[in-house]
Amino acid sequence: MIFRPSGGMLYHWRAWRSRSRWQPFVNALSAWLGEWRTGEELVLIGPSAGYTLPVDFLKRFAKITAYDLDPLAPTFFRRHHRGLAVEFHRQDVFWREARLSLEPLKELLSRHPQAAFLFSNVLGQLLLEGTAEESEWLRFLTDLRRTLGSRDWASYHDVFTYEGGEVIDHLLSGEWKQGLKTGDFEWKLTPRSLHKIQGVRSR
Ligand SMILES: C[S@@+](CC[C@H](N)C(=O)[O-])C[C@H]1O[C@@H](n2cnc3c(N)ncnc32)[C@H](O)[C@@H]1O
Repeated sequence: MIFRPSGGMLYHWRAWRSRSRWQPFVNALSAWLGEWRTGEELVLIGPSAGYTLPVDFLKRFAKITAYDLDPLAPTFFRRHHRGLAVEFHRQDVFWREARLSLEPLKELLSRHPQAAFLFSNVLGQLLLEGTAEESEWLRFLTDLRRTLGSRDWASYHDVFTYEGGEVIDHLLSGEWKQGLKTGDFEWKLTPRSLHKIQGVRSR
């Protein structure tokens, strides 16, 4: 599908119009990701076209593989990050038969045994694509950490969105992230919409 709640055409159009407004967030993320020590292989989950992914960070890696639902993501990624080799796969990484599932992620972890994993502003979007009870979601987050085990991984994701007087809680501010290194950012998505983003890193 070209139009979807967590990405797709509307997101690409917004990104194209918003480059200068988004740049302070990209700069802050660049400094924070720069502190993350990893090997030479990276798996990106939900990168879209990598509009918020700092190019200096991506250039550190000898091999990058990306997984995203969006059929437009590879084309726009190559346009946005010209000259960067990324192997793209169109895949749903979190939902199976309309239920949250960690099976696809387990398969990716065994397919890429040496890679660091970066969840690229996707965890806060998952409940836009499907429905789960709050208790199921919180269990999913705990199980996500257990599944990642000792792997190098990081995520940056929406925690709260402020839009036109409304506050959206993305249900990511709880206990699940205990013991991880964190960073806090602001992303001015549109003139009316401010996203409080949190980064978490395994080290
Ligand atoms: C907000 S966008 C990511 C922004 C992006 N990191 C950037 O730098 O511009 C969220 C992305 O996650 C992808 N996504 C959402 N749910 C997904 C799922 N279940 N599996 C794989 N990708 C998913 C969407 O297609 C979308 O491209």
